[in-house]
Amino acid sequence: MAASKPTPLDPDLAERILTPALLIDLGAARRNIDAVLSLTAGPARWRPHVKTAKVPEVLALYAQAGIRRFKCATPREAEVLAAVLEAESTPSGDILLAHHVHGRGLERLSELSARWPAVTFSTLAESVEQVVEIPPEVGVFVDIDLGMARTGIDVQEGDEVRAIARAAGDRFRGLHAYDGHRHEADLEERSRRIHSSYDDLVALSGALRDAGHSPSEVVTAGTPAFPAALKHIGLATLPGSVHRVSPGTVIYHDLRSVEQLPDLKAEFAATVLTRVASLPGANRVTCDAGSKSIEGTGPDRIAEVLDHAHLVARGQSEEHTIFEATGSARPARGSLLRLIPGHVCPTVNLATHVLLLEDGRLVGRAEVAARGHEALA
Ligand SMILES: Cc1ncc(COP(=O)(O)O)c(C=O)c1O
Repeated sequence: MAASKPTPLDPDLAERILTPALLIDLGAARRNIDAVLSLTAGPARWRPHVKTAKVPEVLALYAQAGIRRFKCATPREAEVLAAVLEAESTPSGDILLAHHVHGRGLERLSELSARWPAVTFSTLAESVEQVVEIPPEVGVFVDIDLGMARTGIDVQEGDEVRAIARAAGDRFRGLHAYDGHRHEADLEERSRRIHSSYDDLVALSGALRDAGHSPSEVVTAGTPAFPAALKHIGLATLPGSVHRVSPGTVIYHDLRSVEQLPDLKAEFAATVLTRVASLPGANRVTCDAGSKSIEGTGPDRIAEVLDHAHLVARGQSEEHTIFEATGSARPARGSLLRLIPGHVCPTVNLATHVLLLEDGRLVGRAEVAARGHEALA
């Protein structure tokens, strides 16, 4: 585990907690924000994705750090964030719903825009038909595919991008190009590939500018790509345009990010407190936090156990994670363990409430207000 350890929990507090429980350390989250701001040299080039943060008290930390531009994935995240910006007396935010929403989802965006007229709302488009569907008060970023092949228009399809920008007219804000596929283990190779695709983005921006549709912003890069992204000179010096990066996981940090960016100075701000429920067989340790409390279905390691490096996660069921003890003795039944999530974003989305800490002390219990989907609104 390369990142610094979470602050130890006050033992009296730990005994009072009903496990499993998601703990969020606000001090660590604040320092993680500062770590990114030191790389971006201030808030101007960071448009954090809030799909990780999800808790209003944590979203407020972004506002308190002077960040005004955000990305989100759902109308609910947009709504919770707009309310936080208002509560923080920073109502003039800029929220990009970086997802292809259609139908009722676009109406929701229009409703949010009416409710928070000081907030600038925008979303993505990848066709002229979509631009027609997007409400007139909502800005448009053209979604560009840099090879991830999830959404968007191939970066080489300049004519198509131009047609969308033209259809959007005054509502055209810029280009959105998420390169979440760039996590090569060799950091130099990753950087080289990122920069090569950004050369294509610079060329596309130039062609748009020549056609009279200058993008005012180009948004790229999540956590694994953002340090390299910030070093691309062509994007950093685009005439009339600002390049922003959009890491979001970094607010809480996780094992996956440690693997992807070993040099990032971030702390584990979200941990799951659990108890040893059972000691089956000769070397197993089963805790009371399963797949309903900590994400373990993806390709990432489920978790590491703080101060118990000899416990290796082997599997999960809904209310249990099973570890195998290699070597040393097993912790006693009923003892408390603190899990560092492999993938923190879906882990936060699993919780309805979190306990808020300030460097190990309890300061509150908060709702994960931006979790899930609205379904009917
Ligand atoms: C469109 C988009 N932008 C930004 C991000 C943030 O990336 P990360 O979670 O690596 O910080 C994501 C993550 O899924 C994303 O889908």
